[in-house]
Amino acid sequence: MCGIFGYLGPKNPLQICLAGLEQLEYRGYDSTGIAGIRNGQIVFCKKAGKLSNLLASMTLNNLESAIGHTRWATHGQISDQNAHPHLDSLHSIAIVHNGIIENHHSLRARLIEEGVTFSSETDTEVVVQLMAKYYQGDLKSAVQQVLALVQGIYAIAVVHKDHPDQIIAAAKECPLAVGLDPMTHESFLSSDPNTFPSSNLDIFFLKAGEVAVIRKGVAEVYNAEQQPIYKSTERLQLHYTEPSKEGFDHFLLKEIHEQPHTVLKAILGRFQELTGNVEFESFQIKDEELAAYQRVCILACGGSAHAGSIGAAYLEELAKIPAQCEIASEARYRSMLLTPDTLVIVISQSGETADTIAALRMAKEARCKILAICNVPHSTITREADAVIYLKAGTEISVCSTKALTSQIAVLALFALHMARLRGLSADAAREFFRHLQQIPKQIHQVLNAIPQLRKIAEKYSRYDHFFFIGRLYMYTTSLEGALKLKEISYVNANGCPAGELKHGPFALINSDFPVVAFCANQQTKDKMLSNLAEVKARGAPILAFAPLGMEDVEIIANDVFWLPPTTDLLAPFTATVAAQLLAYYIALERQCNIDQPRNLAKSVTVE
Ligand code: G6P
Repeated sequence: MCGIFGYLGPKNPLQICLAGLEQLEYRGYDSTGIAGIRNGQIVFCKKAGKLSNLLASMTLNNLESAIGHTRWATHGQISDQNAHPHLDSLHSIAIVHNGIIENHHSLRARLIEEGVTFSSETDTEVVVQLMAKYYQGDLKSAVQQVLALVQGIYAIAVVHKDHPDQIIAAAKECPLAVGLDPMTHESFLSSDPNTFPSSNLDIFFLKAGEVAVIRKGVAEVYNAEQQPIYKSTERLQLHYTEPSKEGFDHFLLKEIHEQPHTVLKAILGRFQELTGNVEFESFQIKDEELAAYQRVCILACGGSAHAGSIGAAYLEELAKIPAQCEIASEARYRSMLLTPDTLVIVISQSGETADTIAALRMAKEARCKILAICNVPHSTITREADAVIYLKAGTEISVCSTKALTSQIAVLALFALHMARLRGLSADAAREFFRHLQQIPKQIHQVLNAIPQLRKIAEKYSRYDHFFFIGRLYMYTTSLEGALKLKEISYVNANGCPAGELKHGPFALINSDFPVVAFCANQQTKDKMLSNLAEVKARGAPILAFAPLGMEDVEIIANDVFWLPPTTDLLAPFTATVAAQLLAYYIALERQCNIDQPRNLAKSVTVE
């Protein structure tokens, strides 16, 4: 979603800002823009579409400072006009903004009454018009006065034509990092510090309504009460690597293929064969404390919530502790009855999902300890959690998440094993579980080796517009994930459904044009699943089954079977998920969808 990048310093601000925006592209966006100051004037260039559109129409040069933006539309359609930066009517001030200003309607109405003419539909323009109204020579003061009036969440960067030596930045519940190099007199601003081009920066994050006055290589910071405050800085080990498809046609396909390696990285060195214990590096929660928890609550969104549901089942099955996974955007508004004897786990690939962050903060208010399972270092969630287990999956570029999810399941399996050991599981039983887990990378390879067969299946099923994905137990969650992948990139109607629920309504939709994709890799529920499939067959729907080698009965009922390497029921989601990812990919390819840029979706969902 939206991203901010800014630069003030002796180098070329335009080039540095463009490079920063390029690195923020991974978040997903639909328009871009840059503003800066040149000879006492605000100059800007903004365009709907990709950064390449902006570059093609770039008119800027010789900027003294630059603030840039990638926008993911929330208020107002995707257009050049609604792209950021936004300017006040006199073109004195320019702003870029992430987040949502909730009271923008009433503020806008008041400004219109006062004679202000708006040139966009955005909530952001309200903020900059207000800043122009309050500006009396001191930009920081104008920004502070306006922030006291707005409700919502934001990260902003603001420049004024009369202050080419300043960028004012502020943030509340949206990530914004400031990186300073006093030696080179350079200052950087970014929604993601991993996009800073140097590791020699003194970095701090703005939060809770703080405002920074950034000059070349230095910054002053004020709290929401407008008092100057000291912000400690840190040197971060930055984790940006140039995105590369490495010969694959799409990032999605590349990341699907990375999974044998990323699952291995998630488990490597974290299990001690000798003791049968799990050890996470620099883990900040003591064993005695973990052992004392009475309940686990997992909070996440999207695919991460699917991993969370599997993790909750692992915790109950292995560690015998009550565990539930809740969609973060729902949990926030429910009486979750969280108490400090509940361990809260938040799961997020990006560490920036707004609803997950809000749920984390809700759990913190209930005095719960927060464990984050996350892929992106230095992200908001990793900074706010009490303890972090990293996925170590490397940058995930594809909007359609794949390797992050299988790494999340791997980490959750290990964490459940850790809890299980603390709650009495024998070392031998732990070793036995880990032996199966260790086989998973090899088994994912086997699925990847069967791509030609899966591709043929995808060709056959790509003509259908509606699907049910069904399963039981672990395979039910896997079916939800499979359906999500298909709808995300192929735009076909794919619904995950517990196999036992078909007869309670969904059957009404089934016919010969409505295939059912059946995830059968649960031995425990095999017979029930086969009965469900017989019911589907009786209603004429084509059946594609993902079943473990050896479950021959499936072949009698299903029209097509893709065989998965057999494993335990608990670990079956790995290979079944990879097979579902490939099915979605090749169906999307057949349907000529834009796989790397699925419509209306963003990688990093920073609005609620
Ligand atoms: C977006 C992504 C999904 C992801 C979800 C949660 O919708 O497109 O792939 O599962 O956000 O993201 P997170 O970064 O918190 O895992």
